[in-house]
Amino acid sequence: MNKKISPSIMCVDFLNLKETINEFEKLGIEYLHIDIMDGHFVGNYTLGTDFVKMLKATTKIPLDIHLMVEKPENVLDWFAFDESDYVAVHLESTCHLQKVLSAIKARGAKPMVAINPGTPICLLESVMEDIDGVLVMTVNPGFAGQKLVRSTLKKIKDLRKYLDSNGYEGVEIEVDGNVSFENIVLMSKAGANIFVGGTSSVFSKSGSLSENVSTMRNLLNG
Ligand code: DX5
Ligand code: ZN
Repeated sequence: MNKKISPSIMCVDFLNLKETINEFEKLGIEYLHIDIMDGHFVGNYTLGTDFVKMLKATTKIPLDIHLMVEKPENVLDWFAFDESDYVAVHLESTCHLQKVLSAIKARGAKPMVAINPGTPICLLESVMEDIDGVLVMTVNPGFAGQKLVRSTLKKIKDLRKYLDSNGYEGVEIEVDGNVSFENIVLMSKAGANIFVGGTSSVFSKSGSLSENVSTMRNLLNG
């Protein structure tokens, strides 16, 4: 599967957002990762509905919307997403998971289910027909700058094996959290193909945006 980079926009320098988006377009970035938090499912607030509307009007780069909200079925109509966008909802955030995934598909976007580090992949079995991707949280959600939960590496490997041996080869695996230059190689080898780049890679202080993206591409294609 193609390896894709999805910069975590919550980590961007907001005072230079437009320049950063322009640079991502030049770099061929595949998605923009938009973390939406409600202060209940996770103890933080980040980006909102107007921000998503503004981004859709600003760039053609597809959005990779990560809803870290309680009862996401109640908020889908607040957003303007289209067929190029991924919309991820947390398995842990609703008792109507299949319903909300179907609702995302009915709105034309690509449904993705997100699971926290403590959630086993066996819980995904009953929604496999309803998703285009799985978002494996490699940190506990809510904040940037955290450290990898190492047990998630085996989870990625087990999930890729489950998908490939049950006829779901086309379902993508996205990883989110401490996708560093070191961890990205481990995550890719384990079977992930969409990488949320935050403070430890795309926005790392060790290089410029283009240098960091180029380092990630080289590590992924190495
Ligand atoms: C966690 C957030 C972070 C962020 C990336 O809820 O989703 O993963 O996007 O931040 P880093 O790369 O600093 O972990
Ligand atoms: Zn995220």
